[in-house]
Amino acid sequence: MSQNQFDQKSQAWSALFSEPMSDLVKRYTASVFFDKRLWQADIAGSLAHAQMLGAQAIICAEDLASIEKGMAQISAEIASGAFEWKLDLEDVHLNIEARLTQLVGDAGKRLHTGRSRNDQVATDVRLWLRGEIDLIVELLVELQRALVATAEQHIDVILPGFTHLQVAQPVSFGHHLLAYVEMFARDAERLSDVRRRTNRLPLGAAALAGTSYPLDRELVAVKLGMVDEQGRPCVCQNSLDAVSDRDFAIEFSAAAALCMVHISRFSEELILWMSQSFGFIQIADRFTTGSSIMPQKKNPDVPELARGKTGRVVGHLMGLLTLMKGQPLAYNKDNQEDKEPLFDTVDTLKDTLRIFAEMVGGQLNPATGKKEGGITVKPEAMERAALKGYATATDLADYLVKKGLPFRDAHETVAHAVKAAITHNVDLSELPLAVLQEFNPKIEKDVYQHLSLRGSLNARDTLGGTAPSQVRAQIARHQARLG
Ligand code: ARG
Repeated sequence: MSQNQFDQKSQAWSALFSEPMSDLVKRYTASVFFDKRLWQADIAGSLAHAQMLGAQAIICAEDLASIEKGMAQISAEIASGAFEWKLDLEDVHLNIEARLTQLVGDAGKRLHTGRSRNDQVATDVRLWLRGEIDLIVELLVELQRALVATAEQHIDVILPGFTHLQVAQPVSFGHHLLAYVEMFARDAERLSDVRRRTNRLPLGAAALAGTSYPLDRELVAVKLGMVDEQGRPCVCQNSLDAVSDRDFAIEFSAAAALCMVHISRFSEELILWMSQSFGFIQIADRFTTGSSIMPQKKNPDVPELARGKTGRVVGHLMGLLTLMKGQPLAYNKDNQEDKEPLFDTVDTLKDTLRIFAEMVGGQLNPATGKKEGGITVKPEAMERAALKGYATATDLADYLVKKGLPFRDAHETVAHAVKAAITHNVDLSELPLAVLQEFNPKIEKDVYQHLSLRGSLNARDTLGGTAPSQVRAQIARHQARLG
């Protein structure tokens, strides 16, 4: 088929059609302007398919050589920007196939033997997403490294830990940051798990029912690296399912949405901590903006936007679930709508992770070999805030328990002590011993070391607790894990 004939075909699919598509319908049904980003996966899939067709003697060696040569040229054209994408040719698959046929003639027309765009597009999206997952996992490692490095510098910095946003107990700032490291580690784990189910081959399912050609699907899977940990090929085992389900994309979006939710929670804290009321931290100026009217302002735009973009990624997950829910087997054109939400999810998550790694950890200064310009911590402000809300009340109760009181009684006793401290507008540690002893005569001088922020922190020395020794141990574990 010449290019001319192909163009004619795109006006109307075949002799079966009596009229061409209107321009509006062409625009409505075309996907090339977004799915062209799948071009590398499309060519890789086509080459693996063609090589398998050659190995199975379904096409001859000369045709395979022509296809390989043509695809090399097409890759170069696309990479250099010389390739002309045509709306008339609907999508990335038909654009590349048409150009191949234009370049190598009949060999190009033989490429589609035993294949349909249905299994082709499912393969392309999986291949593309697999690569993106790998990049995202790397970015998550970078962000975790930045958090761990910042935590390491602030193991002994104390801030109030909150529940219900009320001062609860003192915690180490390092410990606080490591909570996010745990979240991002699980996000990476989830994505690696999604990758296993994404990395399976639909090709060979053809339109929906399989094909009459003697394809070797496992060979194609191996060529495309769709293999398990033991190197065994991973091939979708039901042709109807292979071309129609997009659960791998939905799972990915769910993992991405959750990761953004973690970023959003962190953003919320950064925003609070930067506010004048808290004054706990500063982020570098390049992540903030001023106000056009209020000259004193420095707004935390980046964390705010990340919090906002979380809504958008959660929305994409809802979009994909809704896209899938009414579809009968097998492929339906609805599935073309999976791409834009998926692409935008990937773009948003990657950009956000990149920015956060730099905002937390700073930028590498080549002169010193050190990272600079990350979060600036204000330990005095954090400690001052921790001293405000009777954060060591639990420690006084624990002290009384050690003197033999049942915990519930100790709890009640301390409530009275806190009330007295509030009346006198002092911290528990500022109440004279004689006053404390009025609440319970078992209280002795040694109580004061328990009532200090540092004493409280040091006491929480169970695995996963906020005592500096525990935080240090966790940092070492993360460093070994992250390399
Ligand atoms: N552009 C289509 C998509 O993204 C490719 C598959 C089209 N298949 C079909 N039978 N119309 O899903």
